[in-house]
Amino acid sequence: MSTTEEVGSVRRSKSRRSDALVFFGASGDLAYKQIFPALAALVADGKLKVPVIGVALAGWSRAQLLERAEESLVSHDKFRPETWDRLAALLDYVDGDYRDPSTFQALRAKLGAATAPLHYLAIPPDMFATVLDGLAGWGMAEGARVVIEKPFGRDVQSARQLIGQLRRVFPEDAIFRIDHYLGKEAVLNLLYFRFANSFLEPLWNRTHVDSVQITMAESFGLEGRGAFYDGIGAMRDVVQNHMLQVLALLAMEPPPGYGHQDLRDERVKVLRAMPPLRPEAVVRGQFGGYRNEPGVAPDSTVETFVALRVDIDTWRWAGVPFFIRAGKRLPTTTTEVTVRLRRPPEALWSDGRGATPNHLRFELSPDIAISLGARVKIPGEKMIGAEVDLAMLQQPCPEAMTPYERLLGDAMSGDPSLFARQDAVEAAWEVVDPVLDEASPLYSYEPGSWGPSEAERLTIRHGGWHDPKPKGASA
Ligand code: BG6
Repeated sequence: MSTTEEVGSVRRSKSRRSDALVFFGASGDLAYKQIFPALAALVADGKLKVPVIGVALAGWSRAQLLERAEESLVSHDKFRPETWDRLAALLDYVDGDYRDPSTFQALRAKLGAATAPLHYLAIPPDMFATVLDGLAGWGMAEGARVVIEKPFGRDVQSARQLIGQLRRVFPEDAIFRIDHYLGKEAVLNLLYFRFANSFLEPLWNRTHVDSVQITMAESFGLEGRGAFYDGIGAMRDVVQNHMLQVLALLAMEPPPGYGHQDLRDERVKVLRAMPPLRPEAVVRGQFGGYRNEPGVAPDSTVETFVALRVDIDTWRWAGVPFFIRAGKRLPTTTTEVTVRLRRPPEALWSDGRGATPNHLRFELSPDIAISLGARVKIPGEKMIGAEVDLAMLQQPCPEAMTPYERLLGDAMSGDPSLFARQDAVEAAWEVVDPVLDEASPLYSYEPGSWGPSEAERLTIRHGGWHDPKPKGASA
């Protein structure tokens, strides 16, 4: 291992590699959009050489699974003939109902001599218990690992039930909960940047930081996911998981070591230090026209936008508000973090209260960018200045590993560092539980706007929201 790898790596566990990969839900959306491209990338990197078995109730043959996989790769521009031949040779298929024991019998037979398979449940959560029972009943759980997708439950109580279902069959160290934000290159860079640069540490606390904002904006709407989305809304879809995980990386203490529990321990401490949200600290919005979307109830009160303030009661962060804003049909698609520093004490240097204070900004998607907002003097007689953005890093990363490639590879090698642990999932639900559903009023907003104007009151004493510029617009 080179020094750079040693310093930068967050993976350390030396577990046995999975000797087969089974994915339930092989005919579904997730398989098409994420799993097939991730499998092809793992094959191309020489990291996947074991049998891969898709399971679904689609009336398909193996040839049809291959057709679907090929179509997925072509449509994602990931089709490479040489990789494809190797992937196709590994792919197999079992067709059947998850409630029918013969499905598991057929899977058992296909697994042959494999004793440590990885089971990926890319299926609706209401099917988890059935599939888990099937795996246990047919002797395919012992020595195996299981991967599940968020949302991990709907609230604290159902999350605990789900944990119970999983733990009946798998020990915690065999359970891999995917929150794909934790596998994003830019999110890992945020973690790296924080702890690999000593100039940051003296600033990174309540003495110097005024407030922190995380905005996850999406210009698109439901894209055919109306029925799914209307059952959950923005708080459960992205805040309880992606946004709180990013926040935990921003606010956590440096992990004491590279053990895979170290990083997870520090993340969970941040979540535990957050008091549960109060309804007054949350503004929910729904874009105009949402109720006419296919799959959405005509009287739906589900939010497509949420803005909130959360606090962290630690010595480092007490009194510093962390603002989160996430929504669909906003003016642009990007995720960014802005850390605002306190103003200089004398108004002379900050040109009065109106000027923007210094900030650090991390763009996490679609490109990776880090910039420092500073003030410089405008040439001339007067001591007045203007804000300049000192770009520290600006890089599109088309070749970076996709989150699914990274996370699937990690799960196969048994490294849980970038997966959500049971206690973190529960702690995050405890934060949002009091404000789920209709705990706070719902406001309508224009598609293409920055959400309901009511969200402005949250940040008004901290310089307002920073609205990322739509791509292509000048700064
Ligand atoms: C998913 C949500 O988890 O994340 C989607 O269910 C959202 O609603 C998506 O669009 C965003 O992911 P990314 O990687 O495109 O930022």
